Order: sequence, then structure tokens, then C-alpha cells
Amino acid sequence: MSKYFDFKNNINENDLKIISKDLKDGKVVIFPTETVYGIGTNGLLPDSVKRIYEIKGRNFTNPINLLVKDINMIESICKDITPIEYSLMEKFFPGPLTLILKKKEIVPDIVTAGSDTVGVRISNNTIVQKLLEYSNVPISAPSANISGKLSGTNIDSILNDFDNKVDYIIDCGNSDLGLESTIVKVIDNIPHILRPGNITAEQIKNVCGDVILDYKNLPSSNLKHYQIDNKSILIYSDDTNKLFNKITELITKSPNSVVLTYSEHISFYNSLIHSNTNLYGNLNIIDLGSINDLNIISKNMFEHLRKAENFNPDLILIEGVKNVGLGVSIMNRFMNICNNNFIEC
Ligand code: TXA
Ligand code: MG
Repeated sequence: MSKYFDFKNNINENDLKIISKDLKDGKVVIFPTETVYGIGTNGLLPDSVKRIYEIKGRNFTNPINLLVKDINMIESICKDITPIEYSLMEKFFPGPLTLILKKKEIVPDIVTAGSDTVGVRISNNTIVQKLLEYSNVPISAPSANISGKLSGTNIDSILNDFDNKVDYIIDCGNSDLGLESTIVKVIDNIPHILRPGNITAEQIKNVCGDVILDYKNLPSSNLKHYQIDNKSILIYSDDTNKLFNKITELITKSPNSVVLTYSEHISFYNSLIHSNTNLYGNLNIIDLGSINDLNIISKNMFEHLRKAENFNPDLILIEGVKNVGLGVSIMNRFMNICNNNFIEC
């Protein structure tokens, strides 16, 4: 049985103290962070971390990051931290950044999949901060999803994947950002972005003067991740007419489709559905939000994608966004989901 706590409106400090104590002793807890929900335990207990791999069905070659309380805790588990790494921490912690640092002996090999580095993050989420304050141990916290599925950003997804598989579930409503953290590893004094997130390459460059996009170096880049089960295509054009023509061609061939689009484009699909042909009767349209509000798009995209899957369509078509700023991170997740099945027209 998973014990469920509703902290959406009120945080119960006593409950949190009990949960933190049990987490420290190795119990597994699902909790909110500002990016996506995490599934965590005491990151210094190998057997408890192993349980997380097992519950998620995660490949043991894929290391797990640690959520930490403060820089002191980072210094207790990491060594040889460079001035550039300190400046990234000062600028972006607490926040949606995971920094890959050289680990000390105390970090178990199972956390890092045998590598000599460990990912650390200070979250700005109050629940995480309290869990860390009361437990006073680093919390190993991958995203709360079964491996190969979309990260959980609300309680329905969490319960669907994990009810009765973990000890505690803390519900705090929808995740604020909805996208997993930006992962940075500094190599030869240059920050490499291994995974784009809410903190953009431009922001990192502003702090360090340089940045390299290095997504292939993410240990999980060769594992199956985030792919939805149905056939899916990501499609983008600067020219809306070209975009709509191509989409019409694709959904005409595959009428049982779902299209993920933007508020500004909904009227186009409505006119298709209400046209005189019966061709588009099975078409389902999902509004990802205004094309001009990338924050809202990223906040809700995983939930919208789960909804799209639930229609069980023959084809999921995702309209892309411009590949700049936060758009880079959104397009990165869409590309993964579509297994790089991308049409630019
Ligand atoms: O926003 C986030 O980072 C969320 C929340 C819950 O904190 N967590 C998250 O964890 O996204 P996860 O496990 O789903 O993704 C972490 C990624 C994986 O792709 C893993 O391969 C990579 O970080 N990673 C972990 N340790 C690493 C290391 N030592 N070196 C390089 N990459 C590492
Ligand atoms: Mg994940």
C-alpha cells in the first residue's frame, strides 16, 4: 500500500517529519520538485537505491542524480569543484539545473552506475527542501515515471505508474515547470549541456562565456526514453500554410490521428473537422497552449502527450516550436518522443 498525502493546499509538518525519517531509513517516496515529480530515497543506501531502479524498471547502467540541501552537502559528497562549477551553482541553485561533479567515495557506485561523477541539484521546491532538512541525507531522485515513459507531472500520472509500488506519495498538484532539469557537465572548463531544460544555453553562456551542446554524452542517450507507443511525427515550419498543407496530407492518409497543436491553430482544425467531407470525423485535437507561451507549453506537454496516447490513435502528430531559448528544450523532448521522426517543411 502506498500512503498518500495531499499537500496541495497545506503542508503538514509532522507528516513530513515522519516521511523524512522513513526516507532516511530507506523508504521510497514520490514527491514534487519544480521540474517534474521525483521518486526518491536515501541516496547513500545502496539497497534502497537499488529498489528505485527496480520499481522504475531502470537500466542499471543509467546513473541517478542526487537532490541536496545546500553547497555544504554538495561538498560532503563531491570533490575537486572548480571555480566555473561554483559560479554555475551560485547563479542557478536553487533551481532546475543538475551539475555533474566528481564524486567522493561516500556516494555508492549504484547511484553513479560505476562512474566517478555524480549529478547534484538544489531544488527550490519547499517539499524537497523540507525533506532534505529533516532527513539531512542526499536524496536519489530520478523522474517519477516507469523507465521509457513520460516523466510524471501530475498525480494521475503518478498513481497510474506507481500506486502501491512505493511507500509514500506526496501530491502537490501540477509541476511548475513540467520539464526535467538542464544537465551540465564542465569539461576542460567549458560547460557541456548534456540535457537541455528550463535553464537555457544562452543563460549558461552568460555566466561562463562559452557553452557546448553535447546531448549525445548523456549516459541514457542510447537507451529507449520517452517514446510514446503509437507512431508519432514531429512537424515544423515557419510558414503556417506549408505546415497545414503537410498536416492535411498526413491526416488524410491516417484519419484516426491526434494532432498536438497551439491555440492559434485550433480554428484551422475546426474548419477541417466541420468541412463537408467525412474524412476527419476521427481526428482528435489537443491544444498545447499559445505558441507564444513556451512556459505553459512545457508545463503541460507531458500530460497532453499522455492524453494523446490514451486516444490510441494510428498516428500522433506534434507541431513543433521555433528552436530557440526554451523552444530548444521543448523540441529536444518532442524529438525523443518521436524517435527523431521529424519533418521540416
Ligand atoms: O529535473 C530533474 O532532473 C528530475 C527531478 C526529479 O529532479 N530528475 C530527472 O532524473 O530528470 P532522471 O533520472 O529522469 O534523469 C537524469 C539524467 C539521466 O539521463 C542520467 O543518465 C543523467 O541524468 N545522469 C545521472 N547521473 C549522471 C552522471 N554522473 N553523469 C552524466 N549524466 C548523469
Ligand atoms: Mg527521467
